[in-house]
Amino acid sequence: MPLKTVLITGASGEIGHGLIDSLARQSDVRVVALDLQPMEGAMAAKCHRVVAGDILDADLIKRLSAEHDFDVIHHLAALLSTKSEREPILAHKVNVEGTMNLLEMAVGQARLQGRDVTFMYPSSIAVYGMPDVPTKKKAGRVSESEWLTPRTMYGTNKLYCELLGTYYAEHYRQLDAEPPRGRVDFRGIRFPGLISAATVPTGGTSDYGPEMLHMAAQGKPYACFVREDARIPFMAMPDGVDALLRLAAAPASKLTRRVYNIGAFAPSAGEILDLTKQAFPGADVTFKPDVKRQGIVDGWPEDVNDDAARNDWGWTPAFGLQRAFSDYLLPAITRRYGK
Ligand SMILES: NC(=O)c1ccc[n+]([C@@H]2O[C@H](COP(=O)([O-])OP(=O)(O)OC[C@H]3O[C@@H](n4cnc5c(N)ncnc54)[C@H](O)[C@@H]3O)[C@@H](O)[C@H]2O)c1
Repeated sequence: MPLKTVLITGASGEIGHGLIDSLARQSDVRVVALDLQPMEGAMAAKCHRVVAGDILDADLIKRLSAEHDFDVIHHLAALLSTKSEREPILAHKVNVEGTMNLLEMAVGQARLQGRDVTFMYPSSIAVYGMPDVPTKKKAGRVSESEWLTPRTMYGTNKLYCELLGTYYAEHYRQLDAEPPRGRVDFRGIRFPGLISAATVPTGGTSDYGPEMLHMAAQGKPYACFVREDARIPFMAMPDGVDALLRLAAAPASKLTRRVYNIGAFAPSAGEILDLTKQAFPGADVTFKPDVKRQGIVDGWPEDVNDDAARNDWGWTPAFGLQRAFSDYLLPAITRRYGK
């Protein structure tokens, strides 16, 4: 079986961790991992090559492109929502210019090799932006084309990169006399907040869900930065990773869009606490909303309409809310902290 070479940027992060684990089980795949941060030994051992570097380093990207023919690129490297709000210029550089560097590399490879290069892009529910809580409640499950009025730097970066990727896939150099021999096959997923048992998030605005659980498991107090009734969609990390792999493998002929919503469950912060308390009855959690971070969560939808993903490429989450806790999060988190 011919080996597929898969580039993962931001490979040392939360999704990268899960993705490398899954790809390492596929015998026909070799992973080239790129991240600013060093990768821990056990994860690095699962990769064909690990590169420490910056996606903004154009020379490094050029070198990687000269050294490997990539079949699939999972472009995960980014600054997340809270960090992006605090450092907007850096966010624009990493999230937009960095993505542009990777798209340029992908289109160069596709044209040179005369074949399509699959470009997987993890977008976010942060592309949506609603003005207030009553509007959010009324909107319910938003579909991909509604409320594309992000209120954060991160959401704005993500929405623009969805458009940029779509442009590279469908219209890049449209005035050229000859049609290209290979294209960037750009495919995006608007992820909800992902909850991992293996890693603790940093820099995101959905972090309160996983933070609450990880702190309770360690017997540490936690002040939740949103109101008890704050509601956004969440998903267990294995489903997020599975979605990336499934969409990457879907036949292009089945896809009716370039960017898809995916949903699993949409609990309020209070409901996450209820489940956390069932497992850790001593959980010391208080609600101390940070008005500004709460404002960002209030702009994100309560839930998403993922009919297109279900119809086009068979998206179904393995974990609903109860099962995510009982079968995935609690066993692994309990093992991790030895309670
Ligand atoms: N985790 C979630 O809940 C969630 C939800 C929606 C979308 N996403 C998206 O998924 C992707 C991965 O998210 P994650 O949760 O794994 O984030 P993460 O913060 O855990 O990982 C991101 C990684 O990118 C790396 N990185 C940052 N800047 C870089 C640069 N200039 N060059 C090279 N590497 C760089 C970081 O070192 C980090 O390891 C991101 O694009 C994020 O926006 C995540």
